[in-house]
Amino acid sequence: MELKNNKSRELWISKIGFIFAAAGSAIGLGNLWRFPYVTGMHGGGAFVLIYLLSIIAIGFPIMMAEFVIGRRTRRNPVGAFAELGKKKGWQLVGWLGLATGFILLSYYSVVGGWILDYLLKSFRGLFHGKSPSEISGMFDMLMKNPMRQVFFHALFLVSVTYIVSRGIHKGIELWNKILMPLLFGMLLLLMVNSLFSSGAREGLKFLFCPDFSKITAASILEAMGQAFFSLSLGLGTMITYGSYLRRDVSLMSSATEICALDTMVALVGGIVIFPIVFTYGLAPSAGPGLFFVTLPVVFSVLPGGRIVAFFFFLIVTFAAITSAISMLELVVSYFIDERRWTRKKASIIMGFAIFLFGVPSALSFNILKDVTLIKEMNIFSFLDFLVTNYMLPIGGLLIAIFCGWFLSRKESLDEIRVLGGNIIVYRFWRFIIRYVTPFAVFLVLSWKAGIIAI
Ligand code: TRP
Repeated sequence: MELKNNKSRELWISKIGFIFAAAGSAIGLGNLWRFPYVTGMHGGGAFVLIYLLSIIAIGFPIMMAEFVIGRRTRRNPVGAFAELGKKKGWQLVGWLGLATGFILLSYYSVVGGWILDYLLKSFRGLFHGKSPSEISGMFDMLMKNPMRQVFFHALFLVSVTYIVSRGIHKGIELWNKILMPLLFGMLLLLMVNSLFSSGAREGLKFLFCPDFSKITAASILEAMGQAFFSLSLGLGTMITYGSYLRRDVSLMSSATEICALDTMVALVGGIVIFPIVFTYGLAPSAGPGLFFVTLPVVFSVLPGGRIVAFFFFLIVTFAAITSAISMLELVVSYFIDERRWTRKKASIIMGFAIFLFGVPSALSFNILKDVTLIKEMNIFSFLDFLVTNYMLPIGGLLIAIFCGWFLSRKESLDEIRVLGGNIIVYRFWRFIIRYVTPFAVFLVLSWKAGIIAI
């Protein structure tokens, strides 16, 4: 009896640990900062619906595919594709993932820097008693200040690099177990507050009533990209996480739980933010500053708002760092595994290179604001557009094709059907990953690129 209990407890702990690690990577600025602002820019309800569809038909099956590839090989993405792919070309998918992770972290860290700046502001009680227009003014001031942004961008990356270089992110993942539920609890409280505000009706209507006239090829691509971004898919993060996973944990239920948690946090984030937008007459389409102008407005009037603000930004900082760790770890693990660098050397060199690469993004709201690449986008928006709209979906498409068509049925069946998992469910997944997912991603990409017209 003793033994049996122990055994099942051990199993449970290991699965929960993995879920928290993967959820820690998935839950981050993508949910709280990016999801509300892109939803706001693409008109609300219909966008959210397409986002949810993308999670189910594209995100979930690809997450399973990444876990299968990772656990099968127990290697980093470049090594995994080298081993399974037989043909050399597949390694390129691993390379694409590394490049994407590098670029993604370079601007993610700029936003991480904004969060640090807001953490400091909330610590100093700067939001307290300020009017909404003063609070928007604070964000504009930060955007106009190049040195401050570069400084906080550096500080954010130094923290991430430090953690990855010491290899202590496994310990950090323990903190995940405490802080992620706390984040969720805090969001629920803020949600109740928002639901009682005068803009609640309008906010919820914006978020949940689809108006399909606002949907274009661009917004469908953006919704799909957001699903990849939020679930940390398309560049091999989940391949790496899967590679540490014990064989007796079910991939299907893990992926279900991670997708559900991540989606819940994004939706709750939206339910917090949009009622505030309508209560205070802010613009839903404000862009990347939306998160930074809405929440402090609530903190400025909430009883005890000073303390709530500080803890909130502290936890969001943590969520951002755990996501950023998973991006740097991906790049670093390649240099450790395949180039035999030490962890310290790999983290410091890559951390510094990513910092330098990110500087133009930090400057794209001030010194470099007139440098527009395609379609009036500044450097920051262009990199984000390139990564979320193209690099992640293309990476995901290749991962789906690889897993569905190049991995033998036996190989994926072996991984998915542990503990006698349901064969019907496996067949369903295999059908989706072979036919539906690649086709859907391909269709959206080519529609946007103007190759086909619908
Ligand atoms: N999912 C994270 C977020 O929502 C960001 C992230 C971490 C990510 N690792 C990734 C995105 C890998 C794409 C790929 O903030």
